[in-house]
Amino acid sequence: TGPDTVSPTGQPTGADQARMAQSGAYLTTAQGARLYDTDHSLKAGPRGPVLLQDHHLREKVMHFDHERIPERVVHARGAAAHGVFQSYGTAASVTKAAFLGPDTETPVFVRFSTVLGSRGSADTVRDTRGFATKFYTSEGTFDLVGNNIPVFFIQDAIKFPDVIHAGKPHPDREIPQAQSAHDTFWDFVTLHTEATHHTMWNMSDRGIPRSFRMMEGFGVHTFRLVNADGATTLVKFHWKPKLGVHSLVWEEAQLINGIDPDFHRRDLADAIEAGAYPQWELAIQTFPDTPEQTFEGIDLLDPTNIVPEELAPVQPVGLLTLNRNPSNFFAETEQVAFHVGHLVPGIDITDDPLLAGRLFSYLDTQITRLGGPNFAQIPINRPHAPVNDMLRDGMHQTAVPRGVAPYRPNSLDGGCPFQAGADTGAYVEVPVRIPEATKVREAPESFSDHFSQPRRFWLSMSPVEREHIIGAYTFELGKCYEQAIKERALLVLARIDSELCEQVAAGLGLPAADPTAPPADVEPSPALSQVGR
Ligand code: HEM
Repeated sequence: TGPDTVSPTGQPTGADQARMAQSGAYLTTAQGARLYDTDHSLKAGPRGPVLLQDHHLREKVMHFDHERIPERVVHARGAAAHGVFQSYGTAASVTKAAFLGPDTETPVFVRFSTVLGSRGSADTVRDTRGFATKFYTSEGTFDLVGNNIPVFFIQDAIKFPDVIHAGKPHPDREIPQAQSAHDTFWDFVTLHTEATHHTMWNMSDRGIPRSFRMMEGFGVHTFRLVNADGATTLVKFHWKPKLGVHSLVWEEAQLINGIDPDFHRRDLADAIEAGAYPQWELAIQTFPDTPEQTFEGIDLLDPTNIVPEELAPVQPVGLLTLNRNPSNFFAETEQVAFHVGHLVPGIDITDDPLLAGRLFSYLDTQITRLGGPNFAQIPINRPHAPVNDMLRDGMHQTAVPRGVAPYRPNSLDGGCPFQAGADTGAYVEVPVRIPEATKVREAPESFSDHFSQPRRFWLSMSPVEREHIIGAYTFELGKCYEQAIKERALLVLARIDSELCEQVAAGLGLPAADPTAPPADVEPSPALSQVGR
């Protein structure tokens, strides 16, 4: 759980802190008083009433009563491991980030997850998988909070509550758990057709990975790198598994859900315990940082787009090895807090509107989930770089800051001047020029092509992969109660490929949709009108 040291405030950190809860030869109360019996309540006689003055009973049950914290609002079910990232140095020409410099080793913690299911849901459901990596770099913590699918359902974070409400179980019956096989999911993705590309990846074999060890990972958004000379490059991050990409077939996934709902977390932990350390190469696709922020006609700010690897090669920049299982699930896997705003010098954001919303969301949710603003002090979240912030107090403050003047400059605590500027190794935002603009609530026209990339994906599939996709659409849509939603889904499929639409329609026992006609029984809406694009 981090380095075994004492912090500048004199507080024990890392393994020392674990010993704070479990040291010495005696069982004690939380205050360190030795106990002679923790199995019997204090009573007025062996058969008499339990006494309110039993402060040990009260402390023990009180603590138990508060053991659970809220699960993550999304990505609640996950498994994680510690490891190391070895940089090849090949990214040094495009970024000054120290952990991507030549021959640098950085400790990491990686958490894999499903998105929709609750903490106790099964592992092998059809869903997107989270792939979140915390790099404890010498310049502060960098989090790459990605998924195993390179695109996202929506283009603007303002729709995130909506897409998650649609994907989570229905509010009346709380079913289904962790599956896209229900009306609200299909209602949303067929009315918001920007979701078509991500949905198609979900319906492909990528939606049911064989193992976390055999998944790709993607940063999804385009980020901006800056090198030591201040030159910038746009970039997409990829994780490439050394074991290759492998999936289950649907029948296997369903059986395993019953036989071993912990299949993926068991597989990860067992492999690491056996010394078969999983490995991924971190790789980048780079694009010139032009004012348009497009590449070969693809809008790089639209997170429903990929850039095909034939157009921009995926270049390896380092090797991730997971080599140690967490020793306590709650302390590490449950309490880890990732955030796309955890950036280091050399890596900056772009104006992708989905990324902008995420920059707010993660901190916000973690204040509730982790009980106040001090969760960066939890051992798994502590940076390995020195921390000297002016943040003070708050719920669950465990540091003991020294001095009287938490502001800079000051004339009391040694008169320390404010150390800032590019030459101090500080994080300096890239001074991107913002063109003159009018305040609007609208998407650019370039965000309105919802079908060419899903079509390209479909056409790149082998016959057996197509069969699996047809089977997945048929199964998942078959669970919908509303006929109109199935028909609208067929219309969306007809816009991608007529054979895909016909095969799914046949499976559902419905006529294939006519791609030129809007569905008769659905009121046209602005979103629905996009189906024709
Ligand atoms: C959690 C990825 C979009 C809000 C996560 C996690 C991952 C992830 C991997 C789990 C982190 C962990 O293991 O602890 C992504 C990707 C996105 C995306 C790749 C799109 C490209 C969004 C958006 C929002 C959002 C648009 C909100 C506007 C959240 C929240 C959590 C979460 C609230 C729970 C965090 C926590 O409780 O610590 N996301 N996400 N995500 N995400 Fe996202």
